[in-house]
Amino acid sequence: MNNFTFHNPTQLHFGKGSLSLLQNELPAAGEAVLLVYGGGSIKRSGLYDQILGILKENGNPVHELSGVEPNPRITTVAKGANICKKENIRLILAAGGGSVIDCTKAIAAAAKYDGDPWDLITHKAPVQDALPFGAILTLAATGSEMNSGSVITNWETKEKYGWGSPLVFPVFSILDPEFTYTVPRDQTIYGMVDIMSHVIESYFNHTSNAPVQDAFCEALLRTVIETAPKLLNDLTNYELRETILYCGTMALNGMVSMGTEGDWATHNIEHAVSAVYDIPHGGGLAILFPNWMEQVLDSGVSRFKQFAVNVFGVSAEGKSDREVALEGIKALRTFWTSIEAPSRLADYDIDDSQLDVMADKAMVYGPFGNFQKLNREDVLAIYRRSL
Ligand code: NZQ
Ligand code: ZN
Repeated sequence: MNNFTFHNPTQLHFGKGSLSLLQNELPAAGEAVLLVYGGGSIKRSGLYDQILGILKENGNPVHELSGVEPNPRITTVAKGANICKKENIRLILAAGGGSVIDCTKAIAAAAKYDGDPWDLITHKAPVQDALPFGAILTLAATGSEMNSGSVITNWETKEKYGWGSPLVFPVFSILDPEFTYTVPRDQTIYGMVDIMSHVIESYFNHTSNAPVQDAFCEALLRTVIETAPKLLNDLTNYELRETILYCGTMALNGMVSMGTEGDWATHNIEHAVSAVYDIPHGGGLAILFPNWMEQVLDSGVSRFKQFAVNVFGVSAEGKSDREVALEGIKALRTFWTSIEAPSRLADYDIDDSQLDVMADKAMVYGPFGNFQKLNREDVLAIYRRSL
């Protein structure tokens, strides 16, 4: 294991009825709250009314920022930061999926910064302060509810970057599996692919002696694999939604990656695709991940073998390590196809016309990836494999 320091300050309230705990997290009566949400799913589900009821009862003046886009945009961040500055907001409340929470993280930091909020995303300016915020999660996917990362898009320049700061952990997050009942089938699929991808990013490392972290990863992956088909047949099953919601948070709150160095190249490669084509993050990952695996296989065949055997139950008997490893990659493809995740860029009508543009975007900070460093040619090869 590598040396590490772990600190995750987010207070997690998990389970049926946990919205009742929101009241304990609110600032004093009279102090203003900014409610941030997306395109209206919380209104349709009734969550919006419940939240407003609690805020009203606590006596908090409420301002609203609605319409946060999937793949949230810097223009929306700027709008939110202006409201915070003008209305003396004391707490921001994000109600939605990863996009709403990511946008809220950027608003929280931009509210305490006088320059252009894009400076914070591109590391031109350090995050020095942030407003406190809490999250009410409605979609199991990103882990944003219990981490300090955020991904923001600049649609004018077609750039999409991840950024983070210890100052933007949610102070609290409320996770009620029932809030995820209304997540449509396609978003449920993308979410589960994203969850698995976070675990896989962590799992593909060269760190020695991290058996517990490996086992955490393998257990999370096996659990999603086992649960996904059942959930897709029964979208309002409490226990299945509960399992996936818990997996989503654990996949990217630091638990599975303590003392190891995950890869994270595929996320970078995907962000470059969704920067140009605005596709769902999980859909892009389902297409790219198996192709990344084939591209980097020779950097760690034994790791891929372990993945095949421990996650997909591939038998190693009478086979070379490479054969077992390739069977594992194939099993991942087959599984994602079986739950109707996309498998080719063509599924989103993406052809080879922008591959160079996407590769340039992916390379903006230079070669990347920890399991294998990727250069521009590697990235292009992965895009070509994915067409
Ligand atoms: O906008 P609304 O109306 O709320 O609808 C959303 C949106 O259309 C809908 N939805 C969410 N909860 C729902 C629901 N519809 C019905 N019922 C519900 N309960 O689902 C759609 C997608 O929502 P979004 O928040 O965009 O999805 P997700 O949670 O997958 O977030 C994706 C974003 O997170 C970033 C991605 O790049 C992408 O921009 N990521 C953030 C990470 C992080 N902060 O740690 C890590 C991830 O790897 C990822 O990159
Ligand atoms: Zn992701």
